[in-house]
Amino acid sequence: MLLSIILVSLSLSVPSLAHFSVISPYWRGDSYPTQWERPCGGVNQSISDTNRTKWPLDGGSVVFKGSHPWAYTFVNLGIGGDNTTNFNITLVDGFNQTGNGTFCFPKITLPADLQVSDGTNASIQVVQVNEHGSSLYNCADITVSTDARPLGADECSNSTGVGGYFFEAQAATSSSSSGSSTQSGAAATATGAGNRLRMIAGLTVLAVPASLALLVV
Ligand SMILES: *[C@@H]1O[C@H](CO)[C@@H](O)[C@H](O)[C@H]1NC(C)=O
Ligand SMILES: *[C@@H]1O[C@H](CO)[C@@H](O)[C@H](O)[C@H]1NC(C)=O
Ligand SMILES: *[C@@H]1O[C@H](CO)[C@@H](O)[C@H](O)[C@H]1NC(C)=O
Ligand SMILES: *[C@@H]1O[C@H](CO)[C@@H](O)[C@H](O)[C@H]1NC(C)=O
Ligand SMILES: *[C@@H]1O[C@H](CO)[C@@H](O)[C@H](O)[C@H]1NC(C)=O
Ligand SMILES: *[C@@H]1O[C@H](CO)[C@@H](O)[C@H](O)[C@H]1NC(C)=O
Ligand SMILES: *[C@@H]1O[C@H](CO)[C@@H](O)[C@H](O)[C@H]1NC(C)=O
Ligand SMILES: *[C@@H]1O[C@H](CO)[C@@H](O)[C@H](O)[C@H]1NC(C)=O
Repeated sequence: MLLSIILVSLSLSVPSLAHFSVISPYWRGDSYPTQWERPCGGVNQSISDTNRTKWPLDGGSVVFKGSHPWAYTFVNLGIGGDNTTNFNITLVDGFNQTGNGTFCFPKITLPADLQVSDGTNASIQVVQVNEHGSSLYNCADITVSTDARPLGADECSNSTGVGGYFFEAQAATSSSSSGSSTQSGAAATATGAGNRLRMIAGLTVLAVPASLALLVV
């Protein structure tokens, strides 16, 4: 009796976060049953190692489909083709992905100092976190390639009402990137103390109060 009361109240209090999938580059596979397992939602690389998506050396697209009103979202990269890939390269600074539906970054530029070349194997990790800290993970295995191109508009669009806001790290809010008005352009880079707020080609980022930067196409 007591146990079932505890179980019921536990199940009521455990926050849920709806699942998400990565559409492009093609994800490792269906992670729905184990999506909370880091670093790749419980799907290991052997699933997709032989089915890597070619991803442009000068930067490519990432498309994912959320199913929640909003989520803290991170897009990271790990270099290497082994199961122990360390996703320690930030491709996109943490942001609030808003709206339930498909989200696409048309072109994410790789950090200039990254040691990659045509044929390098790597994995892209997308993490979504809800307001209670529950995290969901998905990975997509890629081969960086000079042959690949970013997706066209037919494959890369945001669903109606889907968008996002950058969260600026605290270090950056005290740096020159805070309080600036409008910055735009291909792969514009703003460097703050200990934090790189890199912008994606074609984006305009407005620094606004409350440590939020609004992403506008
Ligand atoms: C990886 O996935 C395969 C296929 O599902 C499974 O057989 C294998 O045990 C997994 N390996 C690890 C290290 O989890
Ligand atoms: C990248 O992964 C593919 C698929 O496993 C493999 O055939 C290829 O040799 C790897 N490339 C490098 C540079 O390790
Ligand atoms: C391999 O990737 C393609 C997309 O690039 C996908 O359509 C296909 O289902 C994948 N194959 C397997 C066996 O996962
Ligand atoms: C998100 O949209 C899908 C499909 O339109 C719907 O099934 C789902 O319930 C929605 N999720 C939330 C949290 O509203
Ligand atoms: C990853 O782990 C799986 C399962 O243990 C193994 O079959 C596969 O060879 C490993 N891949 C690499 C590149 O080490
Ligand atoms: C990421 O981790 C790898 C392997 O642990 C390491 O070699 C590399 O220097 C790290 N890169 C960064 C940017 O921290
Ligand atoms: C993310 O954006 C949504 C929609 O605007 C908002 O309701 C939510 O509070 C935001 N989350 C955070 C942590 O700011
Ligand atoms: C989707 O929304 C994000 C955030 O506003 C934006 O950066 C991105 O360019 C949009 N994607 C497309 C294809 O317009």
